Amino acid sequence: MQDRIRLVLIYGSVREERFCDQVVAWAREQIEQRSEFELSLVDPAVMFRQPGEAPAIAEQRYQSLQQLLRADAFLIVTPEYNHGYPAALKQFIDEVPASWEARPVGFVSYGGVSGGLRAVEQLRQVLAESSMGFVCTP
Ligand SMILES: Cc1cc2nc3c(=O)[nH]c(=O)nc-3n(C[C@H](O)[C@H](O)[C@H](O)COP(=O)(O)O)c2cc1C
Repeated sequence: MQDRIRLVLIYGSVREERFCDQVVAWAREQIEQRSEFELSLVDPAVMFRQPGEAPAIAEQRYQSLQQLLRADAFLIVTPEYNHGYPAALKQFIDEVPASWEARPVGFVSYGGVSGGLRAVEQLRQVLAESSMGFVCTP
């Protein structure tokens, strides 16, 4: 029997030189102190096939799909763009298969003065469509 929670962390930003990498590094450090989680990272930037992409990217996409389908829980690390969450994250939620149904999801948000609050508000509405349970920590 599996005894660790398979937690999939999803990057919210796909921008080059994104600040998201630093926030993910911080979140990862916190999670890896907890032995109950088996953590994997999924980057929407590699989930859509690009012309001429390196074979390593296709392999990463394949591994990510396996992790998304086996996930017990999700953590979305997202910035706020124009009082919402990034379009690339919406495309990911809409088009990439994952075991969203009835799984818990947590959020780590960042941005300007709001700290990404409005991005998370919108994500809660959208993900409710997939019957997810929410874990919100300020
Ligand atoms: C297109 C765009 C729109 C933004 N809109 C907001 C906003 O509405 N509220 C906010 O607090 N920050 C906003 N920001 C600031 C970003 O949240 C902040 O720069 C964040 O660190 C970007 O994350 P990233 O580098 O990982 O993509 C915006 C940034 C961009 C690029």
